[in-house]
Amino acid sequence: MYFLAIESSCDETAAAVFTEQLSILSNVVASQTDLHARFGGVVPEVAARAHLQRLLPVIDEALEQADVKLAQIGCVAVHNSPGLVGALLVGVSCAKMLALALNVPLINVNHIEAHIYACRLAASKDIFPCVGLVVSGGHTNLFHCRTPLEFELLGATIDDAAGEAFDKVASILGLGFPGGPAVEREAAVGNPLAIRFPRSFLHDERLDFSFSGLKTAVLYAVRGKDLSRTSAALEPNRRADIAASFQQAVVDVLVAKSRQALLRTDLGRLAVGGGVAANQCLRAALEKMVAVEKAELFIPPFKLCTDNAAMAAMAVEKWRLKQWAPPDLDAVPAYNP
Ligand code: KG4
Ligand code: ZN
Repeated sequence: MYFLAIESSCDETAAAVFTEQLSILSNVVASQTDLHARFGGVVPEVAARAHLQRLLPVIDEALEQADVKLAQIGCVAVHNSPGLVGALLVGVSCAKMLALALNVPLINVNHIEAHIYACRLAASKDIFPCVGLVVSGGHTNLFHCRTPLEFELLGATIDDAAGEAFDKVASILGLGFPGGPAVEREAAVGNPLAIRFPRSFLHDERLDFSFSGLKTAVLYAVRGKDLSRTSAALEPNRRADIAASFQQAVVDVLVAKSRQALLRTDLGRLAVGGGVAANQCLRAALEKMVAVEKAELFIPPFKLCTDNAAMAAMAVEKWRLKQWAPPDLDAVPAYNP
């Protein structure tokens, strides 16, 4: 039984082929980074148009790499929420059309929850129940994941997402787009203790996050209190120190909140997904924390952290319960846990 999955929620056009036994036969991602770089961020209309141009070739490539014919596909899965509505619509329309033409079931998968499912895929064993942390460009959420399909929200960001903070700080520091990897590279040669940036809610009971104050503190550190300086005037050492100190502040908060969630739920397992989970400093700090707390940590390899269609293998869980999507499935931009 072969599944074909489609992802088009933001700026990656992706398709994957996998089996009912969760064997990933192909996982093709066409990044649009080059298209958006000159705008310093993802432009929704540009993203939607690029998905339209690239999705069919990406699907062909995924089938070819998997050595599976379209006629052999027994189920089509698609991320239909959350994301940019125009971008999502391209994937959703294509998935509906394919399911109809092949006369096979259509299954919708939530992109945020699928980021956690990527940990299940990489672990090749059951990881549920667990605490789930999703750190992406648009979301920072902590969950109690009871089963692969039952997620209870424990906390979320009240303003910027962790990845968004990385992207905005990269822009403030003049490091370009995409911001996360650029800040990580710069931070590697800086001192994380150079500047004590704010760590919101660090000692608060609530499991929520806030990164906008941190972002503003970085802005003042770079441009001065009256914003009179430019990032170009920064000494290279100072730029690296700001990047490292910012990254450390984000990591400290993410690790502390994950630890609190582990202690509160007593689940002993932490699964982390989303683009920011590709950050080596975060991975190392989480590993240290779970070793102390004697918990198990699941973080997928890089290719399964950032946006991809293989993580839609969560559809296999829905398939077993016959949870098909309706034929009039819609794209839903907001995340409604
Ligand atoms: O999950 P993802 O690929 O897309 C969304 O669903 O949003 O996450 C993208 C986010 C971006 O904000 C990007 O800057 C961040 O993940 N990111 C990183 C790293 N790689 C990607 N943040 C920090 N360090 C990285 N190495
Ligand atoms: Zn994502």
